[in-house]
Amino acid sequence: MYKLTVFTLALLALSAESTAFRPDPSVGAERFRAPRIPHNVYLTGKVALKQALPLDFTPVDKAIALAKEKYNVNEKGVSVTNVYTSRDTGITHVYLRQRINGEEVNNANMNVNINKIGDIISYGSSFLDGGSTVGNKPQLREQSPEVKPVKAISAVLEHLGLPGVGDTDLQTATITPKGSGSPVTVVYDVPGSIQKQTKVTKEFIVNDQGTPEAAWGVTLRTADDWVNSHVSRSTGKVISMVSWKSYATYKVYGQGSYNPEIGSRIVVVDPYDTEASPKGWHSDGDTLVTQETRGNNVYAQEDHDGNSSWERKKRPNGGEGLNFDFPIDFTKEPSTYTDAAVTNLFYWNNYIHDIYYRYGFTEEAGNFQLKNFGKGGQGGDPVLAFAQSGDGIDNASFYTPPDGQMPMMTMYLFSAMSPQRDGDLDSDVMIHEYTHGLSIRLTGGPANSDCLHGGEAGGMGEGWGDLMAVVFRITQNDTRDNDFTLAPYLVNDPKGIRRRPYSTNMTRNPYVYSTLNGREFGEVHVVGEIWATMLYEVVWNLIDEAGFEPELANSNSTKGNILALRYIITAMKLQPCNPDFLSARDAIIQAENEITGGQYMCTLWNAFAKRGLGTEASKVNGVRSDSNSVPSECTQ
Ligand SMILES: *[C@@H]1O[C@H](CO)[C@@H](O)[C@H](O)[C@H]1NC(C)=O
Ligand SMILES: *[C@@H]1O[C@H](CO)[C@@H](O)[C@H](O)[C@H]1NC(C)=O
Ligand SMILES: *[C@@H]1O[C@H](CO)[C@@H](O)[C@H](O)[C@H]1NC(C)=O
Ligand SMILES: *[C@@H]1O[C@H](CO)[C@@H](O)[C@H](O)[C@H]1NC(C)=O
Ligand SMILES: *[C@@H]1O[C@H](CO)[C@@H](O)[C@H](O)[C@H]1NC(C)=O
Ligand SMILES: [Zn+2]
Repeated sequence: MYKLTVFTLALLALSAESTAFRPDPSVGAERFRAPRIPHNVYLTGKVALKQALPLDFTPVDKAIALAKEKYNVNEKGVSVTNVYTSRDTGITHVYLRQRINGEEVNNANMNVNINKIGDIISYGSSFLDGGSTVGNKPQLREQSPEVKPVKAISAVLEHLGLPGVGDTDLQTATITPKGSGSPVTVVYDVPGSIQKQTKVTKEFIVNDQGTPEAAWGVTLRTADDWVNSHVSRSTGKVISMVSWKSYATYKVYGQGSYNPEIGSRIVVVDPYDTEASPKGWHSDGDTLVTQETRGNNVYAQEDHDGNSSWERKKRPNGGEGLNFDFPIDFTKEPSTYTDAAVTNLFYWNNYIHDIYYRYGFTEEAGNFQLKNFGKGGQGGDPVLAFAQSGDGIDNASFYTPPDGQMPMMTMYLFSAMSPQRDGDLDSDVMIHEYTHGLSIRLTGGPANSDCLHGGEAGGMGEGWGDLMAVVFRITQNDTRDNDFTLAPYLVNDPKGIRRRPYSTNMTRNPYVYSTLNGREFGEVHVVGEIWATMLYEVVWNLIDEAGFEPELANSNSTKGNILALRYIITAMKLQPCNPDFLSARDAIIQAENEITGGQYMCTLWNAFAKRGLGTEASKVNGVRSDSNSVPSECTQ
């Protein structure tokens, strides 16, 4: 049941006896705790109500009837927080919250599940018996003056290790909601909050002793966190604090380890980028936090039977602590480590989403997200990512429909070795595939998915994918003399899956513009190799001139590899539908001019010219002629 509560999160089992707890600023996570709720129950199996219910009772009516019967509450003692019916199962999920004197009891929740034919099939509850709450009127004023909202916010700030605001005179406004819901006070421009308004609500919270305490519910968004805290209205002490940040851990071949041949799996904690994924990787974009490999950016699941229907497929579950650490035994078939594979696939889709976001693949540019947070573009299109698909072998695919429709990434197993190897464990393949989505959404606008098909345009679509896979793998220790091959691990061959390595050496990789004239070079992946080779020269020229930045998320850096990503991705937005090598090159030159004002114009021209795409390169009747020339200002 926990996965459906509004705030999920690493609830630490603490032994604190008192209701207030002290922060330890040196250990971030220990700042957070919610009271233990020993009376929490979850009952499965058909639940019969004592009373006969009218036939026209809706699921919500039934859920409320259940609450009344089990907990001795009246109409005013319960409010509905959410209701929805799952399309795949037909089950209606009703979420209730207890109320005392018109104020919500934050941690007294009930979820009631009702099947298609109207039976209550299970429920979870932390409700208190209504009789026991009667004496809990906020009679605080008589005992001690009620703590002011600003004072409560100050306590939360201090608990987070930030400067308090004391009794500062901040502008406030009070709203009394019409229907259900607790009275809200809005405080403006709180120092330390990154939001204009900070909301403080009159609520109750059940403490460790099982007693409801009158509290201020404070929701505060700071630069580093987003917390929901409860502060006693009588003592001003912090009673509970949960972070809406999800403390998730993943064991993956992540950025830096890439695949089992290059590195070992690493444990990454909370890798999400708050700018790109403001609600983390496991949120539905609203309040629901899943414990699965499913979130706003991607739904990742196995596809053993190959039918690619995401609803009924298995996704690993990280539990309440969102801990995605699953074993792999490489002496066994990949089907024995599906959870680890799906976790890896989920990680990379999210990681790439977050990185590309920084380079302009945002909501308005048509990126892949369920919810767009009002930032433009069409939502409703997280990537559907399928692991270990039984639908193919030795390959991978990505489908990119226009903005607002879900793209699909499918990973297969590779048969060169026995046991087989798994595309889900190799960043090269996942980056290559995701980059199809990037280039297709950006070229010709988010609504047009038809701009990179066939010919040079389709080939460049392949090339961008390879190039990005390589750029993600370059480290501080690499130089222009290192070659990169694509997915060598999967095919158990150092040459990888392409004809030539990516290399700045004209012997090891002789591709030039006119290579495209050869009949055997018409296939899109081969065209892609030629394009990616040119971009590879661009990347190394920029790194040699402007240096290297290891952190790709640092998109504001002026280091060479970062500039390369910025130019190449921005150029996708500038170039025409169905670009060719010449127009795509021109778009990159133009992007440089927009971003760095021509500082690296010659750096780029030199790279293109080395591979025959210089200023005089031409295509006449489909025949390409090389040019090694650069603009005159680049020869001085
Ligand atoms: C796909 O496979 C799942 C799980 O095996 C199954 O439940 C579902 O009905 C299948 N869907 C289709 C469209 O065949
Ligand atoms: C992978 O699929 C693509 C598209 O269907 C196809 O062109 C390519 O030949 C396939 N690759 C392999 C190795 O089968
Ligand atoms: C670079 O090489 C040094 C020395 O071999 C090694 O310790 C370091 O981990 C390497 N860095 C990367 C990013 O691979
Ligand atoms: C290019 O590669 C070849 C073959 O590995 C090597 O002999 C040659 O020295 C390299 N050229 C340069 C300029 O590094
Ligand atoms: C990068 O620069 C932009 C514009 O100046 C700024 O809004 C953004 O916060 C910066 N990002 C980082 C990671 O510094
Ligand atoms: Zn491809």
